[in-house]
Amino acid sequence: MDYTTLGKTGLKVSVAGLGCGGNSRLGLGTGRSEDEAIAIIRGAVDLGVNILDTAANYKTEDVVGKAIKPMDRESIVIATKSSFRKGGEFFTPEQVVASLENSLRELDTDYIDVFQLHAVPPKGYDHALNVLAPVLEREKEKGKIRHIGLTETSPNDHGHEMLQRAVHDPVWEVMMLGFNMMHQKARQKIFPHAIENNVGTLLMFVVRNIFSRDGYLADKMRELVAEGKVPAELAEGENPLDFLIHDGGATSLTDAAYRFVRHQPGVSVVLFGTGSQDHLRTNIQSIISPPLPEADVEKLHTLFGHLEGVGLDLPDRHGKS
Ligand SMILES: NC(=O)c1ccc[n+]([C@@H]2O[C@H](COP(=O)([O-])OP(=O)(O)OC[C@H]3O[C@@H](n4cnc5c(N)ncnc54)[C@H](OP(=O)(O)O)[C@@H]3O)[C@@H](O)[C@H]2O)c1
Repeated sequence: MDYTTLGKTGLKVSVAGLGCGGNSRLGLGTGRSEDEAIAIIRGAVDLGVNILDTAANYKTEDVVGKAIKPMDRESIVIATKSSFRKGGEFFTPEQVVASLENSLRELDTDYIDVFQLHAVPPKGYDHALNVLAPVLEREKEKGKIRHIGLTETSPNDHGHEMLQRAVHDPVWEVMMLGFNMMHQKARQKIFPHAIENNVGTLLMFVVRNIFSRDGYLADKMRELVAEGKVPAELAEGENPLDFLIHDGGATSLTDAAYRFVRHQPGVSVVLFGTGSQDHLRTNIQSIISPPLPEADVEKLHTLFGHLEGVGLDLPDRHGKS
């Protein structure tokens, strides 16, 4: 495993982080048992992963708590989240504190390493900054939270409007954003500022459905060709990105997806979600592999650098973003 510093938190974290939400929810979202979910977490830790990302609304905090119970608590970085709104209403400070207390109970721990506000929309940012952040700072002083972060609502904020503001406000030590081979605008809009302000970044939507489900990418490419957004030849064939797979290049589409994002300056941790022991091993291997060949990275920048919002699906019916 490779390790890095998570921005101004100073935490030493693995570059591969286990996402405990998404459609897989450690396998609980795809019919696997709690024991199997615990085995995914322990398998990840055995392979050197030390950062686990969960949330109140994933309903996986208790499984994370059980999995890490026998481990040295200080060796694991737990990131979790309070929801930010219910229906049309933003959470009050009392609701966020209640969510924190519940997370501590579910995780069976005394502190959260990174406590995040979950899916903050652009129009909610003033509330996050002016009403909720001061409350989180108080909880930090009490020792219940070690560091404060927030996540964007990628499917509804393709242009990173919310994070373009947040990245300049010092209270946020960590931010989670969507970034992938066909959604690259963060290269200009977020990462240079995250580096400048020493903000740690966690990536989501790196693979999701578009780079993991048969036929999805080819369908999306035909749509983009029809809209005149990508060259026509990409509509031909069922594997439009197979130019990435060659000797010295990527070994598969998911390998390309993880390796492309991992080496982007400004990226701290690549989150990956899975319920499969095989995917666990291959994804970690991809995330710690060398960069894709420079010519392939350049081609991805040229072909897709102008796109926004590709591959940012909301979770399936049982998934939790
Ligand atoms: N707003 C937010 O705060 C927010 C939103 C989205 C995500 N997140 C966080 O980001 C994490 C990662 O997002 P994500 O779950 O969408 O993860 P992802 O890594 O982008 O994609 C995971 C999907 O790809 C499949 N997959 C993974 N590895 C594969 C492989 N090697 N080959 C084929 N299929 C593979 C998984 O299914 P299998 O189970 O079959 O492997 C799963 O359906 C989440 O768990 C969560 O912690 C946060």
